Amino acid sequence: MRRTMVAGNWKMNGNQVSVAGLLDGVVEGLGKSGDIDVVICPPFVYLPMVAEKLSSHEMLAWGGQNLDTHASGAYTGEIAGPMLRDFGCRFVIVGHSERRSHYGESDLIVAEKAAAALECGLTPIVCMGETLEEREADQTEEVVGRQLDAVVVCLGSEALEHMVIAYEPVWAIGTGLTATPEQAQAVHAFIRQRLSASHARAAEGMQILYGGSVKPGNASALFSQPDIDGGLIGGAALDADDFLGICKAG
Ligand code: PGA
Repeated sequence: MRRTMVAGNWKMNGNQVSVAGLLDGVVEGLGKSGDIDVVICPPFVYLPMVAEKLSSHEMLAWGGQNLDTHASGAYTGEIAGPMLRDFGCRFVIVGHSERRSHYGESDLIVAEKAAAALECGLTPIVCMGETLEEREADQTEEVVGRQLDAVVVCLGSEALEHMVIAYEPVWAIGTGLTATPEQAQAVHAFIRQRLSASHARAAEGMQILYGGSVKPGNASALFSQPDIDGGLIGGAALDADDFLGICKAG
């Protein structure tokens, strides 16, 4: 049985005061343990505060929003996977559509980042999804299939079992336009089937999260789909009540 996972992607938002308040609200609302996995992905500089506030809560984990492909060295401005581990991260988001579009991350770079994460013991949450133009041109499966294959080719079967996938249609991110549960389920099932052709065990156990304007009001309809194992939450993760509402739908 795959556990529901709700991951909060705070993107480039917050300050010390708002981050502390948000963490306190989430911790208080969730309690010490539960039957879902909750992952908070703050901007890097808030990781020490997140680690300190969440470390005694077993259902709560935290992660980075990005990492470099190298483990150390002369890469000014970058953050390496082992540094995330140093602050207790268990997860890292890889290949978010904002990284792909604003920072030119190719399918190959995304695959290399997923490999770098696994190399140092982080679970990559690998994002993929089509733009509106691609959906309208009926290219969703082609695009998502290509993004998925790049990662699958780079990682072996065993590594795939330690990865999480997030399907995030680009047109639904931060727009208020959520994919319907049926639209999302169709792509999630496609991802699982494609994976299962070569890596049946990894496909069965793979947590495939949906992201794109998830709110407390639409979360349970999405999470009740057979191939949707949770969510990657952006805007609604910046409000403790909204985030908790989504967690409780899991
Ligand atoms: P959103 O963002 O929930 O604000 O649409 C999701 C994401 O970017 O991961």
